[in-house]
Amino acid sequence: MTDVWQEAMDHAVTVARKAGEIVRDALENDMKIMCKSSSVDLVTKTDQKVEQLIIASVKEKFPNHGFIGEESVAAGQPCILNDNPTWIVDPVDGTTNFVHGYPFVAVCIGFAVNKTLEFGVVYSCIEDKMYTARRGKGAFCNGEPLQVSDQKEINQSIIATEFGSNRDPEVVDKIFSNMRKILCLPVHGIRGAGSAAINMCLVAAGSVEAYYEIGIHCWDFAAAAVIVEEAGGVLLDFEGGPMDLMSRRIIAANNKSIAERIVKELEAYPAVRDDAP
Ligand code: IPD
Repeated sequence: MTDVWQEAMDHAVTVARKAGEIVRDALENDMKIMCKSSSVDLVTKTDQKVEQLIIASVKEKFPNHGFIGEESVAAGQPCILNDNPTWIVDPVDGTTNFVHGYPFVAVCIGFAVNKTLEFGVVYSCIEDKMYTARRGKGAFCNGEPLQVSDQKEINQSIIATEFGSNRDPEVVDKIFSNMRKILCLPVHGIRGAGSAAINMCLVAAGSVEAYYEIGIHCWDFAAAAVIVEEAGGVLLDFEGGPMDLMSRRIIAANNKSIAERIVKELEAYPAVRDDAP
C-alpha cells in the first residue's frame, strides 16, 4: 500500500536538516535574545527565522496544510488542532541551551492528520542526530532502529524531567516535591537534557526509562511522541489516561508499568491548555 504521507515526511527531514545548519551557524555569531512570558522564557531571532523557513517551504509544497508553530503562536496565531493535515513545529527546542551553547538543541517537526500524529522528526542539530518515526514503521536515529529499554523496575531506572520556565515559587515547590518523590523511590538518577524532545528521544533510544514534565507545549513533544511510540514506548497523561497533545503535560516511558508507577507518584498541577480560548 502506498504511504500517502511519506513525501511529507521526506520533506520534513530535508527542511529539518537545513534548519539545523542555520542553528549551528547562529551559534558562531552574536545572537539577539528576547524574552516571552517571563525573563527566563527566551526566544532568539534564530527561532523566528527557522520557523519562517520551515513554514514557507512546507507551504510551497503542501499549500493546503495547516500549522501550529511555537513562534507563530507567540505572535498571536491560534493553537488549534483540527482534522486537516497539520505541521506542529518547534524551530528550536532547547532555546535556553542554544543561548548558552549547551549542546542539546533540536528542530522538531510533528505531523498530524485527523488529530492523529502520523510522523515525527527531531533533529538534534549540534549532535547531528536525526531522529525519525513514521506511524507503524518504526523509529530511527541516523537510520539505525531505536528500541526503548527493557528495564521493568523503576528503582533500576533513570528518569528525565525538566524545571521548565515557570518560576512561580508554588509551582517550583511542586516540581521539587515531585522530583523528591521520584528520586526517593529510589531511582538510579534523574537527568534533563534541557530539551523536552531530546529527553523523549533518549527514552526511545533506551538511554533513560522515562521522561515527565508539566508546562511543556504541544510543539515541544508532538514530533518526539511518535518516536517514543514507534520505539515501543508508551505515552500517558498525568491522570493515567492517553496522552493529550494540548494538555501541557506528558509521561513518556519504556513500558506501561513504569509509566503507571510515575503517575502514582506525581502530583499534577494546573497549566493553561495550549488550545484554551
Ligand atoms: C522548552 C524545553 C525545555 C522544557 C520547556 C520547554 P523551548 O522548549 O523543551 O526542556 O523544560 O518546558 O518549553 O522553549 O526551548 O522550545
